[in-house]
Amino acid sequence: MSSRRKALGYIAIGVALLQLGMITVYLNMPNASDEGYAIDLTATEYQYFTPSPSPATASDSVPILAPPPPKPNKEEIDKKKKKKKPLHSQYDLDEAKEECFRQQPSPCFFDFKWRPIPQVLIQERKRNPKTNQWLPVKRPYSNHTRKLQLLYHCHYGHYTTSMDRFFYDEIDAAVTHPGINVSFYGPGFPGWDKSISTSDNINTHFQNMHFDIIYSMDHWQSQFPSTAVAVSTIGDCHTPHDCQKSIQSYDDVVALRYAGEIIDLFRPEQWEETTELKMEEAWQNNNIHEFDYLQNREMPLFVHNPDCAPEDVFYPSKLNETQKWHHPRIYPAQLFGSTWGELYPLRDKMRNGINKKILFNATEFSHPGYNIFVNFTKPKYPVGQYRPKDSNTAHLRAQQSMYAKAMRETQICMFDSSRVRKAIRKYHEAFLSGCVVAADIPLEMEDIFRDVTIPLRFDMGIEEINDILQEYLADKERLAWMAREAFYRARQHWTCRNKVDRLIESAARLLNGDKGYWFPFGFSAGCRDYPWGNNTMWCQ
Ligand SMILES: *[C@@H]1O[C@H](CO)[C@@H](O)[C@H](O)[C@H]1NC(C)=O
Ligand SMILES: *[C@@H]1O[C@H](CO)[C@@H](O)[C@H](O)[C@H]1NC(C)=O
Ligand SMILES: *[C@@H]1O[C@H](CO)[C@@H](O)[C@H](O)[C@H]1NC(C)=O
Ligand SMILES: *[C@@H]1O[C@H](CO)[C@@H](O)[C@H](O)[C@H]1NC(C)=O
Ligand SMILES: *[C@@H]1O[C@H](CO)[C@@H](O)[C@H](O)[C@H]1NC(C)=O
Ligand SMILES: *[C@@H]1O[C@H](CO)[C@@H](O)[C@H](O)[C@H]1NC(C)=O
Repeated sequence: MSSRRKALGYIAIGVALLQLGMITVYLNMPNASDEGYAIDLTATEYQYFTPSPSPATASDSVPILAPPPPKPNKEEIDKKKKKKKPLHSQYDLDEAKEECFRQQPSPCFFDFKWRPIPQVLIQERKRNPKTNQWLPVKRPYSNHTRKLQLLYHCHYGHYTTSMDRFFYDEIDAAVTHPGINVSFYGPGFPGWDKSISTSDNINTHFQNMHFDIIYSMDHWQSQFPSTAVAVSTIGDCHTPHDCQKSIQSYDDVVALRYAGEIIDLFRPEQWEETTELKMEEAWQNNNIHEFDYLQNREMPLFVHNPDCAPEDVFYPSKLNETQKWHHPRIYPAQLFGSTWGELYPLRDKMRNGINKKILFNATEFSHPGYNIFVNFTKPKYPVGQYRPKDSNTAHLRAQQSMYAKAMRETQICMFDSSRVRKAIRKYHEAFLSGCVVAADIPLEMEDIFRDVTIPLRFDMGIEEINDILQEYLADKERLAWMAREAFYRARQHWTCRNKVDRLIESAARLLNGDKGYWFPFGFSAGCRDYPWGNNTMWCQ
């Protein structure tokens, strides 16, 4: 027993040492660079998957018949223990978090890092000829490695004018993945021909290219080359019926940015109803292809793929030894976002409170509008590729930096999750910026908000909100703790690398035969086979 305990002790020490090593490595990195995240995924085998050689097959240089080393007696062990530095010194996780928080912008040892590309995504695969659904990929897998070919599909007009960079922040992360080759194209891009189909446009522009995944944010009833897994994303479902109908007819995976929308709007019977409506529409439009497709298809895989924010844009200010969390935060509290009362009743209330000076120590950060237009220049790089520093989107990045700077300079960021209680990006952005959020708690990912958000409710009066605000503002140490903890969680779960990883994972799940719903932050509903009753619809 005691030797086993000893062995466990050594393992614990080893782990502690490893972790200490990691901290030093990451803390010493001078500034944020993509290099910090890169691991070689194109190698045939990842180092961490390599099994250690078993004693019997170990290399010849190991003398197998050598006598076992003499067991050290207890005295010797005690001597050694005294000589060495105390190894048990567990590093303090809180200290390490604090340290990294103070060193921004730079990588932290707890940041989400790329995971290997699932092999299933680059294997031969086929669709069920009747339903068009992907069939589960059969093993054994062939032994080859190549980059994953990923096409981000959007409208050029959205790309160049939309203030909200949610789609493009994700692409910024995707292009840093060493195992992915990103392409970027869609309607309105130079060379796009409106008179031919989406599929023909893509095939003409990218000749001899087969995409593994096409990820799209626009809702046209258009079919992508059917050799790709078609994933589309939707977010703002304020008019349920329209949103239900906006599902593309040919999607394999539907990724919703907010979990609640899945269970409110896309339950099986609702999906069937929508499909019937779309079939009717296709029939009326004389679109027999779409009609047949819809008639035979099964339900796509629904996935909760929450938002992300870029941590090289949203980060806390660097602090020197004497500075405290609140020192660079010159605004005690700021209200962020649109204050349109129909959709954001709490923000509207807070804005009125600020104007009437009932809510004090708070200001409003002015909303720039949803679209920002400038005159464009012809892109100087090959159309179809993505350039993170495209000069045609510089005006949008400038706006985003200004907004990020405001969050960096604010102690408490006030907003709400809208009437539909969704985890909009302001939560991600504020968490990464070290700004403590005062808002209602969205109806999703609740664990991530726990203890690190100042919880408000829609029914609260403005005086009550002000009392809460003043109470928190008076306790800087508590605020600093909340900010650091929220930052720590966001860097683990809410970076845009996380979001790219979930996109890849959802396609991999589909090709592994998953059906139904996937909630990466909580719950999945799929084939549940009740022994004495009807099973759920995904068991076939
Ligand atoms: C895969 O291919 C590599 C290089 O061709 C080879 O070294 C390796 O043994 C192969 N692995 C398997 C499982 O076949
Ligand atoms: C990456 O994609 C582009 C098209 O966007 C293609 O021309 C290029 O050959 C691809 N590179 C690799 C390594 O697959
Ligand atoms: C820390 O930063 C503050 C604000 O920039 C500055 O006033 C102070 O002198 C700095 N202290 C040290 C020790 O560098
Ligand atoms: C907060 O507001 C009160 C009342 O207006 C004022 O006395 C105080 O100086 C303000 N504090 C800060 C940090 O602005
Ligand atoms: C775009 O160019 C036109 C014509 O040169 C000019 O009148 C307009 O002010 C420009 N708009 C912006 C936003 O720069
Ligand atoms: C199973 O489903 C069918 C069709 O909806 C229904 O008629 C039947 O009563 C169900 N059986 C049980 C045991 O619930």
